[in-house]
Amino acid sequence: MVLVSGSGTNLQALLDASADEAFGARVVAVGADRDGIEGLSRAERSGVPTFVQKVGDHATRDKWDEALTAQIAEYKPDLVVSAGFMKILGPRVLGSFPVVNTHPALLPAFPGAHAVHEALAYGVRLTGCTVHLVDAGVDTGPVIAQEAVAVRDGDDEESLHERIKTAERRLLVEIVGRMARDGWTVSGRTVRLGRPAR
Ligand code: GRF
Repeated sequence: MVLVSGSGTNLQALLDASADEAFGARVVAVGADRDGIEGLSRAERSGVPTFVQKVGDHATRDKWDEALTAQIAEYKPDLVVSAGFMKILGPRVLGSFPVVNTHPALLPAFPGAHAVHEALAYGVRLTGCTVHLVDAGVDTGPVIAQEAVAVRDGDDEESLHERIKTAERRLLVEIVGRMARDGWTVSGRTVRLGRPAR
């Protein structure tokens, strides 16, 4: 199950990877917090069921959390992947499913919705992307994997983010595939991929 809010190129990478049986996972559904985004069209083109759950359609955020949890539960996912999903997930979703997020910075640096802009503005020479488990905070969950991306002279937010997304798509496909095939364990802030040693 993949949650999107925008162009869905990370989703597309997962859709492409899941075309190969050996990947060990398939995208059972795609959920969004808004209509009319490319991410939903990508799912429809791949014949993957989609749904939209808008925060604004519910009286409270808690009701949205409840409705989103029920909608995700219909697909019985083993894993929920937040790939460019721009809402903070509520305690019901997080308490019901393991959730992985991909973030376009080397957490804990530059959490939140403007990571690439802030990294560029700060003047870092190295940034990158992080795949992590989602906890109740904003981009604060245990880190699973990271990949560094150098900032180039002349980079603007778009060129840097595109280069980060190239690394991000590759890392997300690798990690989601390994989690699906080999499982994972969490101890404190340490996530180990693969089944626990006997
Ligand atoms: C990704 O860089 C993701 O980390 C960030 O927004 C971007 C989404 O890109 N939150 P896409 O929708 O997967 O193309």
